Amino acid sequence: MTSDPEAAAAFAAAFSDSADGRWDAPGRVNLIGEHTDYNRGYALPIALPQVVRCYAAVRAGDRVRVASQQYPGEVVDASIAELGLANIDGWARYPLGVVHEFVRRGHSIGGIDLLLDSDLPIGAGVSSSAAVECSVALAVSDLFSLGTTREELVDIAHTAENFYVGAPTGKLDQSAAMHCTTGHAMLLDFADDHRTQVPFDLAERGLALLIIDTMTKHELAAGAYAERRSECERAAALLGVGSLREVTNTDDLAGLPTLLERRARHVVTESARVLAIADALTTRADPRIIGPMLAAGHASLRDDFEVSTPELDTAVDVATAAGAHGARLVGGGFGGSVIALVEVADVAAIDHAVTAAFRSAGFADPRTLVAAAAAAARRVR
Ligand code: GLA
Repeated sequence: MTSDPEAAAAFAAAFSDSADGRWDAPGRVNLIGEHTDYNRGYALPIALPQVVRCYAAVRAGDRVRVASQQYPGEVVDASIAELGLANIDGWARYPLGVVHEFVRRGHSIGGIDLLLDSDLPIGAGVSSSAAVECSVALAVSDLFSLGTTREELVDIAHTAENFYVGAPTGKLDQSAAMHCTTGHAMLLDFADDHRTQVPFDLAERGLALLIIDTMTKHELAAGAYAERRSECERAAALLGVGSLREVTNTDDLAGLPTLLERRARHVVTESARVLAIADALTTRADPRIIGPMLAAGHASLRDDFEVSTPELDTAVDVATAAGAHGARLVGGGFGGSVIALVEVADVAAIDHAVTAAFRSAGFADPRTLVAAAAAAARRVR
């Protein structure tokens, strides 16, 4: 991430003018509740202090121009009216998809320049793409005084990702970026989008949530995520229910073909883990008791849902052996990050142990950071 003066210089270089404001949207980690969102289940994310920043300005005319500090020298320029037909590749699909979605919904939008900057690692499973979408969505709504509610902004960002980018994700990431609050995890019920803020302060208990980025990249659009989603839908159809949310007892899955039974078992047991962890946090029980549930969540993603990788499994196993109370992969899987619940005093030792294990396995060095529960998307200036 560059500083504001550097971004101002980059904005001037790209668009020969200055920005009207800056809008930030956070990345997220999900404490528990993976692959539950599109099954109308539960999840429990926190927003991170690391953000995507969108510097934006209204312009005369009907064009949207977008640049990124992470892709220097490239300015993508498109007619707003023709965005639906534009053949756009790569990072620019996320911001342009959001602009397109506003227009598709009948909002009146004029010309706009957007410069993106990020301190979120891309492909690390911490939702940099949703942070891009949400920062742009908030900027567009503010700059054109559209008065769009946060619920609709979540919908706009999510629709952009599904139909413009073409990744059939659920609403977890955009909901976290738009609705999380500092010092809380957020219990999300995807059956009706109900949200409950749950106190989340590990530091007061001498604990930390360590994010271990395995530096292996996932590609959600690349099929495996969509395949899992359709397996869940097939399981629900065979069970005669609208979604796997309606199943709470794993005994009811017994008649399914083995593969679909395992997929569905992950979803059903994962939602139960979300509720148990949310309950432990709400009653302010010692957070150490959630460690085994995190471990069970990882085993379920690894064995039943089959979205883990050797790097993710190594990070989980080594962190646990080095003293973590529990660890699991976060996000969609197939690479990205692991979270580990650790004693503050053990952070450095666990970091070293994982790095050493990665080196001896011939993996790239992992990167770690300590997570904190931060605020949702907002206008900064
Ligand atoms: C990705 C998707 C989310 C969610 C998670 C898995 O992050 O974008 O919608 O499905 O994977 O929990």
